[in-house]
Amino acid sequence: MKLVLGISGASGAPYADRSMRFLAGPGREAGIETDVVFTKTARLVWQHEMGTNPADYGLRIWPSGDMTAPFASGSARYDAMLVVPCSAGAMARIAHGMSVDLLGRAADVMLKERRPLVLVLRETPFSLIQVRNMEAVTLAGGVVMPAAPSFYSRPKTMEALLDTVVARAFDRCGIANELVRRWTGLHDDDAEPVTREVSDD
Ligand SMILES: Cc1cc2nc3c(=O)[nH]c(=O)nc-3n(C[C@H](O)[C@H](O)[C@H](O)COP(=O)(O)O)c2cc1C
Repeated sequence: MKLVLGISGASGAPYADRSMRFLAGPGREAGIETDVVFTKTARLVWQHEMGTNPADYGLRIWPSGDMTAPFASGSARYDAMLVVPCSAGAMARIAHGMSVDLLGRAADVMLKERRPLVLVLRETPFSLIQVRNMEAVTLAGGVVMPAAPSFYSRPKTMEALLDTVVARAFDRCGIANELVRRWTGLHDDDAEPVTREVSDD
């Protein structure tokens, strides 16, 4: 599988970090080839939120303006693209086909080739313009999923909480992963001594 990982300048570099860690480890072992592209602002936000060097993961990282990257062309046949985190600005450019940087061009390619494009949007609250951009991306075949962590797997660490978002995004891209315990219903071992104060009756 060939994957494009786009990282834009929304808050949420730790989501991108968890994604890169997986893709450089279990993902690579499973045969996933990952190409990474940051927007210019994403570099700044990463520096502020992570303070690490993303190149340390050993994934291919492309300059944000390099339109010669293979995934800037549909003929390279990449299988999926994940943008995490996705800023409202990046989503707006994608929704309107503005291929002004490599991330935008790669997303445009995925839509025109009818391949999975998953945007993990990080913004709150939403303006009407942003809601309409979500609609436009969805109608064009993309998937917009807010960076909305869940708690039913009882994450104990920040990494586990981040993975509740990353795992769902990977699922949408068709990337097999067991980053979180999947929901199989309530079981006896889940049950805390609970006093049910609200009755269905
Ligand atoms: C520290 C920081 C946090 C930001 N967080 C968000 C955010 O959560 N969501 C968002 O849409 N924009 C956020 N922004 C604003 C974007 O970075 C800005 O709109 C930028 O133009 C996005 O560029 P890009 O889409 O090319 O990465 C943030 C900016 C900074 C500096």
